Amino acid sequence: MCGIVGCVLKNEKVAPILFDSITKLEYRGYDSIGLATACEGKINLKKDAGKIAEVDSKLNLRDLEGNYGIAHVRWATHGDPSKTNSHPHLNKDETIAIVHNGIIENYLSIKDKLESEGYEFVSDTDTEVIAHLIDKYMKTGLDLTQSVRQVINVIEGAYALAAMTVSEPNRIVATRKDSPLIVGVGEEEFFVASDSPAILKYTKNIAYLEKGEIVVLDEEGVSFLDADDEPIEKEIEVNDWSPDMAEKEGYPHFMIKEINEQSAAVKNTLSERDKVKSIVDEIKGDIDKVLFVACGTSYHASMTGKYLIESLAGIQTEVLLASEFKYSASSLDERTLVIFISQSGETADTLKALDVANETSRTLAIVNVRGSSATRRADYTIYTQAGPEIGVAATKTYISQLVAIYLFASLLGEKDEILKDLEKVPAYIEDVLKKQDEIKRFAYKFKKLDKVPKYLKPILGKPNAYKGLDKNFRHVEDMFFIGRGYSYSIALEGALKLKEISYIHAEAYAGGELKHGPIALIDSNIPVVVIAPPGEDHKKIMSNLEEVKARGADIIGIGAIGDEDLVLKSDYTFLINSEVNDVLAPLVYIVPLQLLSYYVSVARNLDPDKPRNLAKCVTVE
Ligand code: F6R
Repeated sequence: MCGIVGCVLKNEKVAPILFDSITKLEYRGYDSIGLATACEGKINLKKDAGKIAEVDSKLNLRDLEGNYGIAHVRWATHGDPSKTNSHPHLNKDETIAIVHNGIIENYLSIKDKLESEGYEFVSDTDTEVIAHLIDKYMKTGLDLTQSVRQVINVIEGAYALAAMTVSEPNRIVATRKDSPLIVGVGEEEFFVASDSPAILKYTKNIAYLEKGEIVVLDEEGVSFLDADDEPIEKEIEVNDWSPDMAEKEGYPHFMIKEINEQSAAVKNTLSERDKVKSIVDEIKGDIDKVLFVACGTSYHASMTGKYLIESLAGIQTEVLLASEFKYSASSLDERTLVIFISQSGETADTLKALDVANETSRTLAIVNVRGSSATRRADYTIYTQAGPEIGVAATKTYISQLVAIYLFASLLGEKDEILKDLEKVPAYIEDVLKKQDEIKRFAYKFKKLDKVPKYLKPILGKPNAYKGLDKNFRHVEDMFFIGRGYSYSIALEGALKLKEISYIHAEAYAGGELKHGPIALIDSNIPVVVIAPPGEDHKKIMSNLEEVKARGADIIGIGAIGDEDLVLKSDYTFLINSEVNDVLAPLVYIVPLQLLSYYVSVARNLDPDKPRNLAKCVTVE
């Protein structure tokens, strides 16, 4: 949800580095982009609505003079994506520039007051108040740092912000509360940024800013003030992610690169086994209930976690959406372990719930981003080892979350056979990836026709529209995914991936639930993805397959090599090693569904890395 970067360089022109860094944060927002630098007493500003590449080809964003500057990519909250609403925002005299990520909840009352004092607003954003507030405080004689402190005292909500002024050359002042901000300490270059991929190319030395702390960057380095305005030293940690990890490395999109990295992500996360064991040893015996809390894809990983912990460790386990936590988590006590799953570790809903759970219960965070807020607030942290994930739709981080959960559940339940099975998962995933061309070819059938042939026009939109034509799926606007038990959680994640990046309306149902309502929708226009791994529920899901097939649905079957019944009854099948049973299925069966979503998105000429309306890190509630 918006990305910000600030940078001070000793002698070099900052705009090319700012541009390069902010490009790495495009996954956080792509409504608009802007850069501001300053030199010779003047702020240089370039900004506009649109994706980075579009705006850059129009404005040449790297062409700005000055050694210090700030940059922003936006995911609009207040005000539509437009040039005026884009960041950086300036004060009226154009001597101060600021960028902001988050929401200023009390901006309307601040705006009213500032307007009554003669300030004029040009944008519809909540952010603009910050530029005018700094202007107001600086006009009373405060410097930029003191003014930012005053701003913190006035604004409410979630924010990470960076400010600069022409009257204090080569200085950037930044602060945060509830939105992420890291500080990069290079040899001759000093940064603030929303996330590490922005700066890894320039420095791996990172400090994490806490709520209410202020960092001041200048040519000499960085200095910190705590929430009481006292100077502090902060620990500088070395980030072990390599800058290449945040590059496409020859792939057309980050998403397909990240799907292809999943076997390695599983291997790397399995190497956390000793760490997981030490946490399990510490809490075992002290807990008699587990509660998972998460959003989106991480919630789907949590659902698998519920099945696993209940069946492998025999401990009652619930799952809650983080945004619903406060409405139903009344039964927490000190014998409940609350597990927070979050790729980013910065999701606002999840962090809110974590703060509440900390009051009564032990908390464990399973997180991919080192040093993120969840890791600093939970009692225990397990890091998934997926490396940076740039594609907005979660793939390798999801698989890695699952691996961490499988490790946790098997160690808790002392199920050595599952631990052994986990070692084979990377090879099963590799097998699926080797066959991705099969899915690519099938997905191509979902390509929309640029021009609809005349003979199709009268039939399109009617029931049976594509039946009998050439079995293409190009008119598909709705799709169902069904599974049972572990496979139901796969269905949920498969449907989410498809809707996120292909905009096909996709819903997942537990196979047994279809006949209680949703089957009313089934006709030949709604293909059904049936997830049918070997295991005790296979017969039952095959009966559900029959039910939808009898109503005309095309079947996309995902099952085991040798499952002839599935092949016979499906219109398209993708087959997986038959050793992958229903318990292991979430780790492997999701891969063809991720690939299907990706290739359908590409076939429909969409950008899978930047799905409309979404952002990678949701820092607002
Ligand atoms: C879907 C997706 C989102 C996230 C959700 C939680 O592809 O990425 O649904 O899973 O926003 O994000 P984290 O895991 O960062 O808390």
